Amino acid sequence: MKGFVDIHTHIAFGLDDGAKSIENTIEMIKTAKADGTDYICMTPHFHTAYYKYSAEQRNASFEQIKNSVDDVYIFFGNELHYSPQMMEWLKKGECLTINNSKYVLIDFYETEEKEVIFDALHNLLSGGYKPILAHTERYGLNIKDVMQLKESGIIIQVNAMSVFGQWGFNAKRRSRAILKRGLADLVCSDAHNMTKRPPTLKKTYEWVAKKTEQSYADDLFINNGKVILNIH
Ligand SMILES: [Fe+2]
Repeated sequence: MKGFVDIHTHIAFGLDDGAKSIENTIEMIKTAKADGTDYICMTPHFHTAYYKYSAEQRNASFEQIKNSVDDVYIFFGNELHYSPQMMEWLKKGECLTINNSKYVLIDFYETEEKEVIFDALHNLLSGGYKPILAHTERYGLNIKDVMQLKESGIIIQVNAMSVFGQWGFNAKRRSRAILKRGLADLVCSDAHNMTKRPPTLKKTYEWVAKKTEQSYADDLFINNGKVILNIH
């Protein structure tokens, strides 16, 4: 089996509600590696109302991680929390895209209006970005909405643990429906810690391979992530 690619994680220490220390970061990376992940993108929340860190703090955390890990490939980005100011933050480079590409990982409040989600994603598309909708199953979107988003070029990301009920009944039901209908593009850990939100993917990979097709599981957990990270 080839190594998994996890492009949505809160493993970078000291920046948001994920890892608390470099030791914590290293422990999570080792756990991911042992579970089969070889490529990890650190995506700390970019949510100015909750998480306040300077570019210097962020870069120092990233630098220390890069220097402490040698058996997993590490990449950087942000998980942008939707704001009407998002285009400005992206253009100025305050909010990072995934591995300095046009791919933007974006999330919304779970109660956000459908219209706001659609408008924001389409604004990113018309601004030349490639939006990745974080944990698509956690909003009030139905299958038709997800199909519409996918058709318009939005990349559909599902959280690995949602499939087993980590985010409640509705997210479990929606995540399974999205995966079984082949609408997802990526499954990621959205790892925050070693307990309830761990950096692991294998169990969900096996579930997807069993319930759908092996090749679809490979695309979701390996191949599509490589395209996004520009890995050859
Ligand atoms: Fe996240």
